Amino acid sequence: MAKKGMKIAESKGRLGVLMPGMGAVATTFIAGVEAIRRQLALPIGSLTQMGTIRLGKRTEARRPRVRDFVPLAGLENLEFGGWDLFHDDAYEAAVKAGVLEARHLDPIQDFLKGIKPMPAVFEQRFVKNLKGENIKRGKTKMDLAEQLMEDIRNFRKASGVDRLVMVWCGSTEAFLLPGTVHETLAAFEKGLRSNHPDIAPSMIYAYAALKSRVPYANGAPNLTVDAPALLELAGKLRVPVCGKDFKTGQTLLKTIIAPGLKARQLGLHGWFSTNILGNRDGEVLDDPESFRTKEESKLSVLEYILQPELYPELYKNFYHKVRINYYPPRGDNKEGWDNLDIFGWLGYPMQIKIDFLCRDSILAAPIVLDLVLFLDLAQRAPEMARRGIQEWLSFYFKSPMHAPGLYPEHDLFIQLMKLKNTLRHLRGEEMITHLGLEYYD
Ligand SMILES: NC(=O)c1ccc[n+]([C@@H]2O[C@H](COP(=O)([O-])OP(=O)(O)OC[C@H]3O[C@@H](n4cnc5c(N)ncnc54)[C@H](O)[C@@H]3O)[C@@H](O)[C@H]2O)c1
Repeated sequence: MAKKGMKIAESKGRLGVLMPGMGAVATTFIAGVEAIRRQLALPIGSLTQMGTIRLGKRTEARRPRVRDFVPLAGLENLEFGGWDLFHDDAYEAAVKAGVLEARHLDPIQDFLKGIKPMPAVFEQRFVKNLKGENIKRGKTKMDLAEQLMEDIRNFRKASGVDRLVMVWCGSTEAFLLPGTVHETLAAFEKGLRSNHPDIAPSMIYAYAALKSRVPYANGAPNLTVDAPALLELAGKLRVPVCGKDFKTGQTLLKTIIAPGLKARQLGLHGWFSTNILGNRDGEVLDDPESFRTKEESKLSVLEYILQPELYPELYKNFYHKVRINYYPPRGDNKEGWDNLDIFGWLGYPMQIKIDFLCRDSILAAPIVLDLVLFLDLAQRAPEMARRGIQEWLSFYFKSPMHAPGLYPEHDLFIQLMKLKNTLRHLRGEEMITHLGLEYYD
């Protein structure tokens, strides 16, 4: 019997999606949504659009689509905007990114040409390999934050949207350790006014979003909103946030395979992962400081899933290496090789080889869509919004944000169960435990 669900405001009117960074991921997402709206393609890879959710007992046969079960914004109600340090409109940026083919871009050319990036908040120190010309000027970082808030207000007015969500689709910034300036909101705001060097552009966007009560998702591994000062602001203003780093490609496969090895108690001597990619993301990651941010995000996954402290005979000291190499001829169609040295019964060694010819942005675009719709849902459910970090969205991230004192959940299948149980909880449906003894009474 369903209990009463949480209070959720209706999804009335239009929803604006603002993206700092209008490169491969952002344009593949925007163009994809428009192609789907015109019934030129299907939203493959999107849990909100294609996925179903089981409710009640298996015998009840209640399996609605996720989008029919919770009140999500409809695709027809999405409006897009963003910032970039290049002037290219969404059409030109999509053509340069080289992800989607002319057969998908040509029919929606006019629509994409209408989406022009606003001038970015950018600091070369954080993304060494890019030089742009569409950049805001301001005396202090606080001035820049205020300009972004003005952009948000103007976008809201011009597009007539009722609600907004911001998703960082900008380049990976140089590695940054949390410092005293990120510890409290007061220290952070002082740092904005005094141009503190450890406040990265992505943090200025996050600050502007939260101050404008706009939920924020972080698609890159940068610290950004995963810092006490910004979490304090999110908590104070009750704005949902989530991150970090979209879980696509190689890490997606890792979080599918590693739980399976652990489930069967198979050991691991080593896991070597290498990638070649030739898009702008690859160019940015060619800089060791940006790569370090990415590397930290990619490496932590296996440790958490395999739990060597619980299973020392199987996983103590396994060797894990991740390499990313910039190789222009491949563009966005990267190739990821994995070699796994595993061992089984009596310690006999085996090997697994994976060669994933994947398309990163094709895997990332549906993640952006789901995050936009779920963050907007969380914002309309006060019980969810007041919690700040939306850990139930870990499913979508390589380095899921979590409350202090917890460890992140990386196992894709636990993440999916957590996500679906959260939706059931929101709607007052019973949690699914998979016990099922009652079928045999
Ligand atoms: N493609 C994937 O599957 C995937 C997966 C996980 C994470 N990511 C992350 O998502 C982000 C976007 O990836 P992409 O493939 O679209 O990269 P991209 O290089 O094509 O696009 C990033 C865009 O951000 C812009 N940018 C950089 N700094 C900015 C700033 N301060 N303000 C506004 N714009 C800024 C760049 O000019 C560029 O156009 C990257 O950080 C990437 O690491 C991508």
